[in-house]
Amino acid sequence: MSIGCREVVVQLFKEETLFIFICLGVALLMFYVCKLNTWTHMEIITKRSFRKMTVDDVMSSIWGELPISARFTSLQNSSSAVHSTARLENPRDQYCVGDTLNVLVEMRDYEGCPKKQGGDFILARIHTPNLQASSSGYVTDLLNGSYRVSFTLFWPGAVRVSLRLIHPSEGVHLLGKISSHNYGKINYTGTFINGSKREESQCGIRLDTDKALCEYRKKEDGEYYACIKPQTLPCSSLQTMSSTNIQPQITVNETELLAQKNTGTQIKMNFTAVKVIGCFVGAHRQTEKCEAGMKSPFPSGYFFTNRWSSPICNFISECDIDRCLKGKRLLLFGDSTVRQWIEYLEKKVSDLKFVPPVDEYSLMLAVDNVRNITVQWKMHAYPFVTAHNVLVNKCMPISRELDRVPAGEGRSDVVVVIGVGQHFRPFPLEIFIQRLINIRQAILRLQARSPRALVVIKLENTRELSSTMTHLSDWLGHIQNLAQRKVFGDLRVALVDAWEMSIAADTFATHPNNIVVASEIAVALSHICHYGGLKL
Ligand SMILES: *[C@@H]1O[C@H](CO)[C@@H](O)[C@H](O)[C@H]1NC(C)=O
Ligand SMILES: *[C@@H]1O[C@H](CO)[C@@H](O)[C@H](O)[C@H]1NC(C)=O
Ligand SMILES: *[C@@H]1O[C@H](CO)[C@@H](O)[C@H](O)[C@H]1NC(C)=O
Ligand SMILES: *[C@@H]1O[C@H](CO)[C@@H](O)[C@H](O)[C@H]1NC(C)=O
Ligand SMILES: *[C@@H]1O[C@H](CO)[C@@H](O)[C@H](O)[C@H]1NC(C)=O
Ligand SMILES: *[C@@H]1O[C@H](CO)[C@@H](O)[C@H](O)[C@H]1NC(C)=O
Ligand SMILES: *[C@@H]1O[C@H](CO)[C@@H](O)[C@H](O)[C@H]1NC(C)=O
Repeated sequence: MSIGCREVVVQLFKEETLFIFICLGVALLMFYVCKLNTWTHMEIITKRSFRKMTVDDVMSSIWGELPISARFTSLQNSSSAVHSTARLENPRDQYCVGDTLNVLVEMRDYEGCPKKQGGDFILARIHTPNLQASSSGYVTDLLNGSYRVSFTLFWPGAVRVSLRLIHPSEGVHLLGKISSHNYGKINYTGTFINGSKREESQCGIRLDTDKALCEYRKKEDGEYYACIKPQTLPCSSLQTMSSTNIQPQITVNETELLAQKNTGTQIKMNFTAVKVIGCFVGAHRQTEKCEAGMKSPFPSGYFFTNRWSSPICNFISECDIDRCLKGKRLLLFGDSTVRQWIEYLEKKVSDLKFVPPVDEYSLMLAVDNVRNITVQWKMHAYPFVTAHNVLVNKCMPISRELDRVPAGEGRSDVVVVIGVGQHFRPFPLEIFIQRLINIRQAILRLQARSPRALVVIKLENTRELSSTMTHLSDWLGHIQNLAQRKVFGDLRVALVDAWEMSIAADTFATHPNNIVVASEIAVALSHICHYGGLKL
């Protein structure tokens, strides 16, 4: 009986065990099936996000972030910096390093009436001149004529706030209107040469003509441009191109709205400076290494003793630049704002010398045989906005240049720097975005071939407040920077935030000074050289 019972129990136990095993098996199977599903699902998502990024996606996500701004009626009804005021939100007697400082702006028009809509384009900074310290601020549009500007207080001292109204919302609206789908702001003249024969004709990205065309590059790859076929010479004899600006048709009052005297004016503040003290003993010290692909915080950094520092990782000092470059190949692709890097390095690194021919419009090469350093700069391909005759065949699309960077599995001596934007400002945004997407695909191909090559994206910096606003306004640069963050944001690249640097430094120069250029280079190189220097 007892045996039988036990047997039954054992039997039961066996059945139970079997049952449990079956259950476990099913659960495990389900777990793996689900897991497999998520894996393949994730893989698909990753692949999709790496493969498919359309111009329309990027365009709509950018316009979705921008408040609709007001139509221009008259200057009196437009936002005016001098009539507007800014004050501290929840003012305190003193602040701690690390605190957030919020400033509220109440925008008014030229008649002093409060604005009811958002859309004004404001650039903000904090600074302490005697410490050579500065940083940029983040502007939140409250959409009712008020703005909240937030700063992170990085250093102790008397910190001043400076807010510039770059364009009133009406100016932003006007810029949006005259820029969208407008290919007619720049006129190109192509020069065709064969032997002693020479002919000129009009060129552009879109030509409004019935005449026969010479077409260059495929239409679908976004690098297309064309010229009206010259009288006798063949299309292949196109040698140079130069450009002139064409003023869009705007009224006298609209011209006034975008005039220099209404651009970049300081907004009145009802306080002078805030007192910031270091409240915590044992100053916060940065120890993390800078890695490509790190999410860029806001603010991405600040100047202190004229050197750019990061809140998240260790930047090398300017003095370590030549040590870091030893044995490296630095390949710079883009406009003259990255040409500044080779010009700076040629002066700074003692044995680095230019190798002729040196052409400031297309190509520069510098070599240091002592430290085995090569630095090369190449201008990006058409479009370039310049009255100079640029040799068209010397400049290749950056995506193609990247495809020519040789594979180097395991080698970490190649640093690729990409800096585009300024020459695209007069063209519709979709042209720029298509170009960025081409570059994005080429970066992914490069990283598949050379996983250890460092890819650096230098964002656009601000430019002169005296620029032709219809063509080159910093608002156009701001939009293009948003596009760059969207297109490159998920890649394993190092971002050099020249936009924030130039706002912090208040430079407003297409070619910023050496303090900014040295900082740009130091940020880039910090992603491959980690010397663990001390800060503050
Ligand atoms: C513009 O300002 C005038 C006063 O100069 C005012 O009468 C008018 O209502 C304003 N228009 C708008 C659209 O706000
Ligand atoms: C604007 O909006 C903010 C946030 O919604 C609000 O706090 C503020 O009082 C508003 N300002 C005006 C002038 O209505
Ligand atoms: C554009 O340039 C062409 C020469 O390439 C010239 O014939 C034409 O008049 C120019 N157009 C304008 C609007 O300046
Ligand atoms: C220049 O002209 C010659 C003779 O007409 C022709 O063979 C050659 O292909 C032309 N060169 C270019 C670059 O078009
Ligand atoms: C231009 O502005 C002036 C002064 O604000 C105004 O009197 C005039 O009507 C405006 N002209 C046009 C065409 O809007
Ligand atoms: C600045 O303006 C705000 C709001 O009008 C006011 O509360 C504050 O007292 C002013 N501060 C100074 C220093 O005048
Ligand atoms: C110089 O650097 C290159 C890579 O840029 C490397 O292939 C070469 O071996 C180096 N030569 C010397 C002498 O170190």
